[in-house]
Amino acid sequence: MRQRILVVAIGLFARLVLSAQTGGNEQLQLRTGDEIYREACIGCHGPHGEGQPKVVVGFDPPKSMPDFTRCDQTTPEYNRDYKAVIRDGGPERSFSQIMPSFRDALTSEQMDMVIQTLRGFCKEKGWPRGEMNFPRALMTEKAFPEDETVITTGINVQGAPGLTNEFVFEKRYGEKNQLEVAVPFSFSHSGTGWLGGVGDMVFGWKRVLFSNLHSGTILSVQGEVMLPTGNRARGFGAGTTTFGTFASFGQALPANSFLQVQGGADLPVNTDKSPQSLFLRTALGKSFSDNHGLGRLWSPMIEAVATHDLVDGSKTDWDLVPQFQVTVSRRQHIRADLGVRVPVTNTSGRPVQLMFYFLWDRADGGLFEGWK
Ligand code: HEC
Repeated sequence: MRQRILVVAIGLFARLVLSAQTGGNEQLQLRTGDEIYREACIGCHGPHGEGQPKVVVGFDPPKSMPDFTRCDQTTPEYNRDYKAVIRDGGPERSFSQIMPSFRDALTSEQMDMVIQTLRGFCKEKGWPRGEMNFPRALMTEKAFPEDETVITTGINVQGAPGLTNEFVFEKRYGEKNQLEVAVPFSFSHSGTGWLGGVGDMVFGWKRVLFSNLHSGTILSVQGEVMLPTGNRARGFGAGTTTFGTFASFGQALPANSFLQVQGGADLPVNTDKSPQSLFLRTALGKSFSDNHGLGRLWSPMIEAVATHDLVDGSKTDWDLVPQFQVTVSRRQHIRADLGVRVPVTNTSGRPVQLMFYFLWDRADGGLFEGWK
């Protein structure tokens, strides 16, 4: 089997090198993405990007072998990840070595052109593109619908010791919808010792209203219900069912910068137990990467977070949250974020918190896949 792959690969390279050297007609053939695809990719990826059957390619396609006609699988992928694999081969993102490196065979522009051809295999245009899946901030919720599991932790670094955690499970349904389940759990220290408990569970439904790759804009709305599963007497819940709603907006800015805004309201059924409140969260950031823009991704961000209780005389709580996110796994599907939440108004009883999260993008592989 190895030999067959080698033969396919060597054959391809020979043709590419030949076409590069002979000039004239041969070179003309590689002027468009479609021509590059026909010449260099079709042998393994098939005439329409769906992948060639085993009898043709002579190898068992890995289970992550892409079917470029499947919009649900391909639209969340970033062009930069495709380019990293095309330039440096499958192992660059911890995929199979059967996917060869085209570093010496194609120019950077040719790689961009063939990526456009790959993009053309998905025929449904309504799917928001992964380019608008901006790095997740610690508090501002993204507009992009996704398949992610996130655990966020906040540790008090001032005042009474305390630890707040939130486990979030997000699952995408089709082009524009996403289910979200969140389970908070916290530990706090009082005079007598540590107390731990589950807070109010949240069930939410997100829907993308608008997304446009050219302007780099995405807008979603979410409705959610918070159930009083937490013990209010111990400070772990609101003690009443709360309905929540918000809009999330993301905008790409020049030079890999981005802005994300989330604004909404929490409306408890019993306002004697917990006040109605409004919130606004914004995150401004920029991504940096080594290896000509295709390597590990670092995204410093600053968030400004405001909460205002709808009660007479109440003042708005403002927090600033400087932080950075980094891709941890080679596949870049495991990411971590570390920051500090600093209250800037109404600071009494609101301690500074060290915050971090651990994020797993399940669409790109298992928790233990994609590391080497
Ligand atoms: C020798 C066979 C072969 C050739 C030739 C080949 N590929 Fe691949 N390619 C693969 C295999 C196998 C995978 C799946 C790797 C995996 O999932 O472990 C793959 C995966 C990919 C991926 C998926 C990365 C991801 O994030 O899922 C892209 C993009 C890609 N190939 C583009 C191309 C392009 C563009 C060409 C032509 C310039 C090409 N391939 C030529 C075998 C090949």
